[in-house]
Amino acid sequence: MFSEAATLTVLPKKFSVIARTDSAPYAAIADEARKYYGLQFHPEVYHTPDGKNIIKNFLDICGVSFDWTMASFFETQKSNILAKVKSSKVICGLSGGVDSSVVAVLLHKILGDQLTCIYIDNGLMRKNESEQVVSMFKENYNIPLIHVDAKEIFLRKLEGVTDPEQKRKIIGNVFIDVFDEEASKIGNVEFLAQGTLYPDVIESISFTGGPSVTIKSHHNVGGLPEKMNLKLIEPLRQLFKDEVRILGRELGLPESFIARHPFPGPGLAIRCPGEITEEKLEILRNADEIYINEIKKAGLYDEIWQAFAVLLPTRSVGVMGDARTYEYVCALRAVTSVDGMTADIYHFDSDFLSLLSNKIINSVKGINRVVYDITSKPPGTIEWE
Ligand code: XMP
Repeated sequence: MFSEAATLTVLPKKFSVIARTDSAPYAAIADEARKYYGLQFHPEVYHTPDGKNIIKNFLDICGVSFDWTMASFFETQKSNILAKVKSSKVICGLSGGVDSSVVAVLLHKILGDQLTCIYIDNGLMRKNESEQVVSMFKENYNIPLIHVDAKEIFLRKLEGVTDPEQKRKIIGNVFIDVFDEEASKIGNVEFLAQGTLYPDVIESISFTGGPSVTIKSHHNVGGLPEKMNLKLIEPLRQLFKDEVRILGRELGLPESFIARHPFPGPGLAIRCPGEITEEKLEILRNADEIYINEIKKAGLYDEIWQAFAVLLPTRSVGVMGDARTYEYVCALRAVTSVDGMTADIYHFDSDFLSLLSNKIINSVKGINRVVYDITSKPPGTIEWE
């Protein structure tokens, strides 16, 4: 029996307690005779001490053989995808991030020229990112790639929208409209491939279809419209980010793709709480560029799992020379993580934080205050929206 806060309060028959904590009297329970075990915590998250051992012991008890490898993953995907796609064509939404790049290369290996990649510039990308992504891909791969400039439509649909979930839904819908339009130009396209990962699925909807709370509608899962013409192919749907990076290396992707910090599909829209305007996006792009460049210059980029700037909708009073300023506040975020499900803040040296603040305020018109986000996940999420 569960109490309102979803804590086990009464033991099931034949079960005994094998672990307890101050807040959970039945943290782990067992019916040794039937080999049934129950846990009231998440052994799978990185921060659980000995979590991996708990899962390993559980698999031992279940008699599972440890023969899953990335090579076997590729072979399984290959036969599933060939059986599903047959002679149809597939488009793959490419964002330049590691997930969609891995999907593109994986599918190209399997489907050859049945695949076309589409990069949609939604106006929510970072500074010079569209050019970088397209040239990075063209230089390394000979996969047909269409570059669509859809800035205007995305920004128009987002005008005046402040609710984070609504932003995500709008972006998901416009992505699908643009993919539909491009697919009809190519002809015989039945499938849209995306780099959806397991954490996107868990936080958007329940993987098993059961009731789970939507934390945020990841644009490539919960943010999609209910009715779509294209059917989805999501080969990474059961993988975590660290596993995708291993797969990427197996597929021979250059380190420049694999080592990039994650960047969310809805882009800067979810790093600009409140209403999105071209002016705010430009300010955010400038601050973010300085922040990331300084991290790279200091040799910290690879130590950090994800770093980015957020432009808060709040203005604050400041003083510059003799003059009063009244401008936006910029929050900097940097986290360490393994899979994005939990995260710790990155502990920058305080002199480095001061340097960042000075550089950003002195170079970016529109920002007069910089703060550092010291919230881990949980209770925060990595992105602000
Ligand atoms: P949160 O904010 O949920 O983020 O702690 C966990 C990781 O997921 C990324 N993220 C997304 N990635 N589409 C994506 O492709 C999305 O809608 C989305 N929302 C968050 C986030 O950047 C972090 O790496």
